[in-house]
Amino acid sequence: MDKFKIVGGTPLSGEAHVSGSKNSALPALAACLLTDEPVTLRRIPEVKDILTMKKLLSHTGARVCNKDGRVHVDARSLDRPEAPYEVVKTMRASSLVLGPLVARTGCARVSMPGGCAIGARPINLHVSALEELGATIEQTHGYVEARAPEGLLAANIHFDRITVTGTEDVLMAAVLARGETQIRNAAREPEVKDLADLLTKMGARIEGAGTSIIKVQGVERLHGAEHTIIPDRIEAGTFVLAGVISKGDLSVTGCVPDHIAALTFKLRQAGAEVDEIGADTMRVRFRKRLKATGVTTEEYPGFATDLQAQYMAAMTLAEGTCVVTETIFENRFMHAQELTRMGANIRIEGRQAIVTGENELTGAQVIASDLRGSASLILAALAARGESTIDRVYHMDRGYERMERKLAALGANIQRVRS
Ligand code: EPZ
Repeated sequence: MDKFKIVGGTPLSGEAHVSGSKNSALPALAACLLTDEPVTLRRIPEVKDILTMKKLLSHTGARVCNKDGRVHVDARSLDRPEAPYEVVKTMRASSLVLGPLVARTGCARVSMPGGCAIGARPINLHVSALEELGATIEQTHGYVEARAPEGLLAANIHFDRITVTGTEDVLMAAVLARGETQIRNAAREPEVKDLADLLTKMGARIEGAGTSIIKVQGVERLHGAEHTIIPDRIEAGTFVLAGVISKGDLSVTGCVPDHIAALTFKLRQAGAEVDEIGADTMRVRFRKRLKATGVTTEEYPGFATDLQAQYMAAMTLAEGTCVVTETIFENRFMHAQELTRMGANIRIEGRQAIVTGENELTGAQVIASDLRGSASLILAALAARGESTIDRVYHMDRGYERMERKLAALGANIQRVRS
């Protein structure tokens, strides 16, 4: 397993360019299954989870190819509407093919995702929403088997709790359901809006994507389209926090500043200088030691749970004590123990982490446990005195495109050690 070796202490400077959003590319690729015409997607990041989704599409019989930075999917020859355990166990977002497969072919057999490091992560809300649309669903032998031989029927759906991929899954099914579907308590994440933009280009009729009530007028069929995926807001936020924690002067380009407004607000409260320059650039400059500033993760437009670990790293060096509260996942503090090994002062009490800033962190050998936790450890290592090694960086490779090269180009002393 590859490791990162980092020697901390260099303030980052220069320009970090943000890749396309992994969490937008995944549903967009799944949406290609809804039509028998070719779909072209631009700005798809080259990360492990995307590779897994491409393999999954190929498994169903769709043809997937990359050409000059674009991904072309042709699902004309879709003949195996299933997502096998071997694939789903490596990426739970595979459940995103459930809605498209049952809408396009009338049946789907998708392995139930196991839990993952950050929580149980069931898909009961996906299943019940699809049943509302008329699918009959059995859950046996670890698989969800969905059938709708007569097609899907519009319904009024209300999610008990907000679910991002649950909203995306049922949106992709509703676009081919007969009649008008309402999805209430829908997720408002930018990735949901981006998916709706793609579906609309494919001929779907959708109103309200990006708000908590989405209306879908079902159509007979969808056609091919071309679409550019939005930039990755979590990568953008990770770079902003890298600029802060390394006491640097960093521009983040090719991003949508508005998508991380909650982070910007918090960092300004903490005393960082974060400026939005034009439509797609942010500049972060270190002025003085941050003030400890608490945060609670919430669904969008609240503070993103996917930035919680990275933000916590910054708070380990802030002046004072703050509370980081995680409301979305039940076990998303595994990075805290590893940060403690670097000298951080963090006490976990259920869903809350009480973080008391120290004057410095020291480099150490640490182990990544999940995608965003690995980013947190990298940020801490960039600020720590001395050398750190971060093991199991395959977690990082799932969602960040060539992160070590991007950080090295900003002046970081980081190298990948292949083992
Ligand atoms: C998406 O996961 C993202 N992944 C996650 O990013 C992100 O952390 C999460 O949304 C929250 O913003 C993708 O978009 C591929 P949820 P998702 O359904 O859709 C519970 C990353 O680091 N729930 O919004 O799986 C669930 O357990 C990843 O890039 C049910 O109980 O998250 C969680 O507690 C990590 N039943 C809460 O809802 C369900 O059927 C929110 O989960 C579905 C979800």
